[in-house]
Amino acid sequence: MAFSLPDLPYAHDALAPFLTKETLEFHHDKHHQAYVTNGNNLVKGGEFEGKSLEDVIKGSFGKHAGVFNNVAQIYNHNEYWKCMKPNGGGKIPGALEKALVDAFGSVDKAKEEIVQAGVTQFGSGWAWLAVKDGKVIVTKTPNGENPLVHGATPILTVDVWEHTYYIDYRNRRPDYLKAFVDHLVNWEYAAELYAAATK
Ligand SMILES: [Fe+2]
Repeated sequence: MAFSLPDLPYAHDALAPFLTKETLEFHHDKHHQAYVTNGNNLVKGGEFEGKSLEDVIKGSFGKHAGVFNNVAQIYNHNEYWKCMKPNGGGKIPGALEKALVDAFGSVDKAKEEIVQAGVTQFGSGWAWLAVKDGKVIVTKTPNGENPLVHGATPILTVDVWEHTYYIDYRNRRPDYLKAFVDHLVNWEYAAELYAAATK
């Protein structure tokens, strides 16, 4: 089975004004689609054909840069879209809220750390909440890399490639990240992933 581009879980204009229809049209329909197309072309006929996204990511890391970069970006974007929702950023389900307070001291501090990770990721990359050894951590990765190749399970991801924010925020990456944590995060989805990663 080749990899495919999942539909957005909402309309292209549903995250406006924080991310506009134009941004989602380019980011999902063009950039994410390109990773799917290139990933399928690179995997075809080789040792990774027919394997799951996670297996290809873990198997190609550090060995097959082209395959890794494209297939990891398919996974990262699949997760990114699900990590947002219209009217997001509200109340955090209890178990995850408690885990964030335990790990960072408060929910506000956890949000600050996510923003800070995104702001300080030099160049293209991603900021994450992940579960490692049963504990919630904030981490950042360059390019297509993600926590799966560092023994951690992602529970929230935010894309900080320029293609994510340049139409709506120009060079103001911190403003985009602030809008993400305050207005876009789908905490219910993150809580589902947290529960699965800690059961
Ligand atoms: Fe992206």
